[in-house]
Formats: sequence, C-alpha cells, structure tokens
Amino acid sequence: MCGIFAYVGRQKAGGILLEGLKRLEYRGYDSAGLAVADKDKLRVIKKKGRVEVVAAKARRARLQAVMGISHTRWATHGDVNDTNAHPHLSDDSKIALVHNGVIENYASIKKFLESRNCSFQSQTDTEVLASLIAYHYAKEQPEEGKNRFLESVRKSLHHVEGAYGIAVICADYPNEIVGARKGSPLVLGVGNGENMISSDVSAFAGRTQNVVYLDDGQVVLITRDDFSVTTMMDESVQPVINRVDWEIEESVLGTFSHYMEKEIFEQPTSLENTMRGRFSDDGSTAKFGGLNIAARDLRQIDRILFCACGTAWHACLVAEYLIERFARLPVEVDYASEFRYRNAPLDKNTLVFVISQSGETIDTLEALRESKRKGFRTLAFTNVVGSTIARETDGGIYQHAGPEIGVASTKAFTSQILLAAMVALYLGRLRDLSFNDGTEIVKALKKTPGLVSQILDQADKIKAIAEKYADSRDFLFLGRQLMFPLALEGALKLKEISYLHAEGYPAAEMKHGPLALIGPECPTVFIAPKGEIFKKNLANIQEIKARKGPIIAITSTGSDFPEDLADDIIFIPQSHECVTPILAAIPLQLLAYYIARHRGCDVDKPRNLAKSVTVE
Ligand code: F6R
Repeated sequence: MCGIFAYVGRQKAGGILLEGLKRLEYRGYDSAGLAVADKDKLRVIKKKGRVEVVAAKARRARLQAVMGISHTRWATHGDVNDTNAHPHLSDDSKIALVHNGVIENYASIKKFLESRNCSFQSQTDTEVLASLIAYHYAKEQPEEGKNRFLESVRKSLHHVEGAYGIAVICADYPNEIVGARKGSPLVLGVGNGENMISSDVSAFAGRTQNVVYLDDGQVVLITRDDFSVTTMMDESVQPVINRVDWEIEESVLGTFSHYMEKEIFEQPTSLENTMRGRFSDDGSTAKFGGLNIAARDLRQIDRILFCACGTAWHACLVAEYLIERFARLPVEVDYASEFRYRNAPLDKNTLVFVISQSGETIDTLEALRESKRKGFRTLAFTNVVGSTIARETDGGIYQHAGPEIGVASTKAFTSQILLAAMVALYLGRLRDLSFNDGTEIVKALKKTPGLVSQILDQADKIKAIAEKYADSRDFLFLGRQLMFPLALEGALKLKEISYLHAEGYPAAEMKHGPLALIGPECPTVFIAPKGEIFKKNLANIQEIKARKGPIIAITSTGSDFPEDLADDIIFIPQSHECVTPILAAIPLQLLAYYIARHRGCDVDKPRNLAKSVTVE
C-alpha cells in the first residue's frame, strides 16, 4: 500500500519521479504528489486522484531540481483529499516526507508537538513524523562529524511505533535523501551518477538494475554519487548489491486494454516459466533449487500449515486438496491475519508454508515471522524476487510469473496453483506416489500452457456470456472439492473489479442458506468438470434450475453435461485433476474481466484496493 520513490542525480527529477510513480500506482491511487528541493526551499505538488493529475500540475511548474521524493497514496489516516496527499511538510517547511505504513502512536506525538506550538494541516500520521523530524533537527546538536539531517531522522524514528518505509528531504541538504524502513518495504537503486529509493524495484525500470534490499531497522542516505546504509543505532551495514533481471517491456501494456487482460493472456507463458527446469530427469517428480530442506527432513514432516491472504489463500486451499491427495499429509489452511494472533498450538513436526505474490503482505509476513519465532521451519512461494518474505523464509520457490501489475491477481494465482501441484507431486513421490503416477502427473502438468491457450481462444464467446449477465446485481459461484477454492476465487475476482455482490460456496452447501438468493435475477456460475462427483453437481444444478436460477456452467469437454441444463456452457479441456483448477481459473478471470469492462469499471485499479497490502 502506498508507493514511494525518491531520486537524486544529474537529470531533472520531476519527470523521473512521475515515471517511477506511474509504475508504483498499483500500490495505491487515492492521491499522488512530489516534493523537490529548489535552491534552499522545498516545493510540494500534490493532488487527490491519479498520478496523471499531478503530472499535469508538475509540467506547468517547470521544475528544475535534480532531486526529490514522490508518493502515490492508499489512504489509511484521513480522507482522500489534496491536503492529506503526500509529501507532507513539517510545520517549519524544512522537512518533506513520504511514507508507506502506519504510525500507531502518532496521536501522542502530535499532542507533544502541539504543546510546542506546532500546528498541522492534514489528518495524517505522516505529517506528524515530518514535524517530529523538524523538531529534532531544530533542537539537537549532533556529535562532531555527524550529519544533522540524518541524525534527526534517526532520532525521531526511535520514538515511532508502527510500520514505515519513508523518504525524507531537508531544505538545508538539497543533495541528500534519507530513507528508512521498519515493516514496510524499501529498496535502494544504485545508478550511474544517480541513486534512488523506492517501495519496489519496478520504479527503477529503465534506470538501474542494481538494487540493495534494505532490512527492517535500516537507514539509508543517498547522494548523486554515493550511498550509505546504517542501522538505527548507527552501525554501518555492508550493502549487498543484487541484479534484477526483469525486462522493462514486461511491465508495459502493449496492445491490451488493461494489465489484467494482458496478464490473463500471458498465462501460457507464465505457467511455462513457473515449470521451467523444475522436473526431474526421469520425468517422475518435481525438483526445486531453493527449498533448503533435505528430502530426508521433509519425510519427518507430519503436517503442513498454509497461510496467506485473499487470492493467495485460495491457492492454499488448492494446495491442501492436492497435497492431501498425492502425499497423504494432513494440511491445514489459515488466513495469515488470523493465524498471527491466534497462538495456534502446532505439532512440532509442522512445516509452515506461506504464499504471497508480492512477498510483502504484512499479515503473511508476520505469520511467517511468528512461525519462525516459534522455531518452525518455513517455506514460501513468492513472485517478487528479493521481496521481504522471499528473504526471510527458510526456503522457497519463486513463481517466475513475471510482474503482475493489475490489482486483481490472475497469472500469479495460476502459477501458485501450478507450484502447489508440483510440491504435492514432490512430497507424494517422497512418500507413496508411484513412479507411474508421478510420470502421469508430470506429463499432464507439461501440457497445461497449451490447454490454457485453448481456453483463451474462447475469449470472444466468454465475453458475450459476460455481457449477457453484466447487469445482474448478485452472483453465486459454486463448486465441489478442488473446484470449491475456484468458486471462492471466481466470486472474489468478480466483486473486486466490478463491485457486484458475489459469493462462493462449496456446491452442496447452497442448500444450507445461499439457495434463498436464487431466482431469475441471480445467476450461478457452476464449476462442474468431469470427475467422480460430476453427477452430484448435476443434481445441485437441477435444484437451482427448479428455482429459475440462470446457470453458467463451466465443465470439461466430453463430460456429457446435458445441454439444456445450463443457460450458457463454457468448456475447458479434459485434463488431470491437478491441472483442472488452473484451467477453471481462466474462464472465471475472463468472466470477471469482461463484466467489469462492460460496466465501465477501472479494472486495473479497483476502488479502495491496492496491490500490495502492507498495513494490517
Ligand atoms: C485479489 C488479490 C488479493 C491478493 C492478496 C494477497 O485479486 O490480488 O486478494 O491475493 O492481497 O496478496 P499477496 O499474494 O501479494 O500476498
């Protein structure tokens, strides 16, 4: 949530900041702003709305400065308006600050500063921190040889409770930017004659591929030609420079109308990339480089606990079914936000597995930390290389799905399911799954990208179905077993981007309440592929039809689905049960996408949401 980007170099900062900010806009888009050091004064331009609105203002201002900070906001404290937009200036206008996170004790700091005649313009926690830094800057004499600006930031942060990723500038130091993190991500970009700080490496696209991932409790000072990293206690840190190997084109929209559309259509490639090099030479199992846990030790695991949020939590539910089926290992799935405060009694041989596309979701990160603190071994799937979860987990598997920009997760979800199937296969082969069963699964998984392409070829048909139902206010999504998490995901996808009411249920549960919603006005998306419980699904569909509920069925080719039973049928190819959840995800994503598009919704930036949820 919230994106911050700071730049100091030789070129005019305004345009560079805005370009970086556009790439961070998926993190929040309530308002945007920038501040630059112009001679010995700070200039702030900020506005409610998208980066584009601020860009227009900034162009008119003809900024000349070669350094500055910028921000795109997802509101936590205070309304969405111009005043609450970042950057925030201190009361004396000496300090400007952008912030991602929540300062929990801001009220008491504010009270303290007010008692010293400090006044505030906004309702934000961030403005309080800006003025606290200015207070220390004005009051404290640093030790000989120390940087007064840097020390005032450090000193202030000692008083702060909560989470922050910040970038700060000071009118008296027009060549320096200070950044710091605790709980919210922050990355340093090391360029040629320029340095940068951001919440996320994507802001550095086209400028540098050399990055330093900062750890919690670290403070960074950047100038045009230099940078230094220290701890909050002023111990120096030896930074490790990593090289990010993404292509800029990957985050460019191209001919697609939305990133979500692009990412849906990228799935044959993203799935290929997720699998690449990860099957054994004998073709009977999966292999992973970064698990950091020997097969011998994995055999000692008695139970797996999966934790995640949102769509990634749905991927955990798929993992539960598949691991229990292939490896006969008990699996539990918990919301990360519940687990972290639940103090769950866990068996000592439990493996904790977290799934997070961004690798920054705070609840998932804290669930991971809590598990590590209790001494459990942890593993993770993450998509963002170098993210905090990727760095803190004991071992993990990168999704390699490529950058996901659309707020609604699509290609990251299917790559998570694919990895879940591969992990289930791997664990199964360590236990009772036979060589023949293993090779059958590997062969099936390898065919997945081609099968996904076949479904994408039906996009026009799915679009027509979507438009037929786009005026409905309520939708029900039903499925059994492996299709139950997909029903949840279909409902989530639809509600988050089209703002329609949608609920997902295990199909048989509908008789215990949701059936009351059914009528001609409430369509049901029923996911009923061929399989052992196919007939039970048909019976449930009959029950809906008897109550005049429209049915959009998603079933497999050759499933003998009675054509007159559904109002509309979408066929997915017949496949191995571990591939079917991936295939079923595609029409659900397309249905949600085309409905939202037809309704004129802002598909990539749905209201109130942000891609990376770094506040609790
Ligand atoms: C929904 C969606 C969210 C995320 C959730 C977790 O489309 O994208 O529900 O799945 O916020 O995010 P990550 O996977 O980054 O931890």
